[in-house]
Amino acid sequence: MKRVGVLFSGRGSNMAALLAAPGLEGRFVVAVSNREDAAGLRLAAAHGVKTVCVGHRGFADRAAHERAIQEALLAEGVEVVCLAGYMRRLTPFLVGEWTGRMLNIHPSLLPCFPGLDTHRRALEAGVKLHGCTVHLVTEEVDAGPILAQAAVPVLAGDDEATLAARVLRQEHVLYPTALRLFLEGRAGAADAAATLHNPLPGAAGAP
Ligand code: GRF
Repeated sequence: MKRVGVLFSGRGSNMAALLAAPGLEGRFVVAVSNREDAAGLRLAAAHGVKTVCVGHRGFADRAAHERAIQEALLAEGVEVVCLAGYMRRLTPFLVGEWTGRMLNIHPSLLPCFPGLDTHRRALEAGVKLHGCTVHLVTEEVDAGPILAQAAVPVLAGDDEATLAARVLRQEHVLYPTALRLFLEGRAGAADAAATLHNPLPGAAGAP
């Protein structure tokens, strides 16, 4: 059982999906927020997971803030980190500490639409397929090796809210699935890719 930590900043719905996932070869030992008002703090506590808030104000620089986060993770013996709506750009320090052991979920089919406002940009671009990606974190934002993706159709009449909601439903299935495979050493392998290609109810191409 790997010891897993989560970093988040807000609502925490992806974190809640991870915490509720059955059959993981891992145990969530700490959830760290950079915001005291993050709704996800209550969700994590409700799952019996230790919560730590490391506010980003008051530190000399980003790396100093990240050193405090790193201490919180190491204090719980964390071995794998999941970013779940963690809205601070990471410095090379924290990325370097977790190379190959830090996952992120991003609400687009990377490499399309890295960064913010993915749903608005997808609508503006007129793409017919959109979705979400779980990837390993590297120094370049949203550019690390892709572990899993789920696609959804963009429908006539969609606005940002309807598209975001359709993608979010897939995020809540994709992230636990990708983490499960990762913890089993199977993420990114051929069988994982086969398992995760549009298998999700409501995904484009799903029966
Ligand atoms: C999700 O859309 C996730 O893909 C992105 O930030 C959002 C976080 O939502 N990285 P939540 O806090 O998990 O509800």
